[in-house]
Amino acid sequence: MSEPLRVALAGLGTVGGGVIKLLEANRALIERRAGRGIEVVAVSARDRTKDRGVDLSRFAWVDDTTALATQEGVDVVVELVGGSDGPALTLARATLGNRRGFVTANKAMLAHHGLELASAAEAAGVPLKFEAAVAGGVPVIKGLREGAAANEIARVYGILNGTCNFILSTMESEGRDFAEVLAEAQALGFAESDPTFDIDGIDAAHKLSILASVAFGTRPAFADVAALGIRQVIAADIAEAAALGYKVRLVGVAEAGPYGLFQRVHPHLVPIDHPLAHVTGSLNAVVAEGNFVGRLFFQGPGAGEGPTASAVVADLIDIARGEYGPAYAMPVAALIDGARADSGERRGRAYLRFTVEDKVGVLAEIAAAMRDAGVSIESLIQRGAVSGGGVLVAIVTHEGPERSVAQALEKLRGSPSLVGAPLWMHILE
Ligand code: HSE
Repeated sequence: MSEPLRVALAGLGTVGGGVIKLLEANRALIERRAGRGIEVVAVSARDRTKDRGVDLSRFAWVDDTTALATQEGVDVVVELVGGSDGPALTLARATLGNRRGFVTANKAMLAHHGLELASAAEAAGVPLKFEAAVAGGVPVIKGLREGAAANEIARVYGILNGTCNFILSTMESEGRDFAEVLAEAQALGFAESDPTFDIDGIDAAHKLSILASVAFGTRPAFADVAALGIRQVIAADIAEAAALGYKVRLVGVAEAGPYGLFQRVHPHLVPIDHPLAHVTGSLNAVVAEGNFVGRLFFQGPGAGEGPTASAVVADLIDIARGEYGPAYAMPVAALIDGARADSGERRGRAYLRFTVEDKVGVLAEIAAAMRDAGVSIESLIQRGAVSGGGVLVAIVTHEGPERSVAQALEKLRGSPSLVGAPLWMHILE
């Protein structure tokens, strides 16, 4: 049996503790699968005294996280610190610069600095792996970069944030409003105390930009992801969607084509017979369409101790076997620039929800804005008072260019008839 792979672990939160437990619990099996052992030899975290439910006494404790990059006897550094910059990025640069492998679950850092880190890994001839950064325990990076590597993939989309999916599916099953469900999720520890990145779609946008690169062979372009979260979704939207045969889901969609690279995270209406409609709670799911394999569907837990540790250790097993290739499934020089596609050119159906004053002429004003922008209305529902005041008007449009819908909404902007901003949800066809 070869020498074990020696691992340094930066960050001992839920996932770090999970990695230690998994390596311990499945030690013999992992050794058989990898052909060698995988040993944690050094750890670093903020608080040395905290009880993490795992025995840390056999590992070297390193106070300065960056020092793991040069710690003697380490082959690979696992980064579970988080944050797009700061200590995580310093550690990544130092580790790769020191010609050591690097495994990370840090989607924010990859979204902002992935190309630089992939170039550094390539220059050093060492692995950069990040299965845990997208959809937690779901092996979607591996699925795309290896299993579907023979295919041209034109479209990849999915539910990439478990917090939002938990909130939306709880709103759906219990008929409650966003703020109430968010507060409960926070109290139960399902949502972060600062949930901004999750509920504003930023976390999903980070993940989508990574997926798009791996799927299409384009340079990561996080700045080009249009992101809108779920704050504006109210219980009445979910009820209207249900009446129309849809579920509301926060969906990240990426497409590559002659028109450029399109990346968007928005709340969508998903037809009830689509697999994404049945993804509930904190699960994640990704659909990829390959030109030979057809539609692939990956689903599973997107976060949590066990699932995320499972993805991290899968990367370590690949490294232990010597089975790793370029971070984005092709050398950095082969990645192409995907110019940002103009969403106005896209065609689709839209769900538009207005909360309006209950007064004469409001419907006529909305209909006139639609008419003037060339938006054709397929159906329109008006309901009585909604929580927060006003009455609800929900419109589903016929298929048409998104530019026209944007123009109609622009015409209505600032109208005194509207109570708050309208909500535009795309219909996933
Ligand atoms: N905060 C993420 C989510 C999990 O709610 O899905 C980690 O990526």
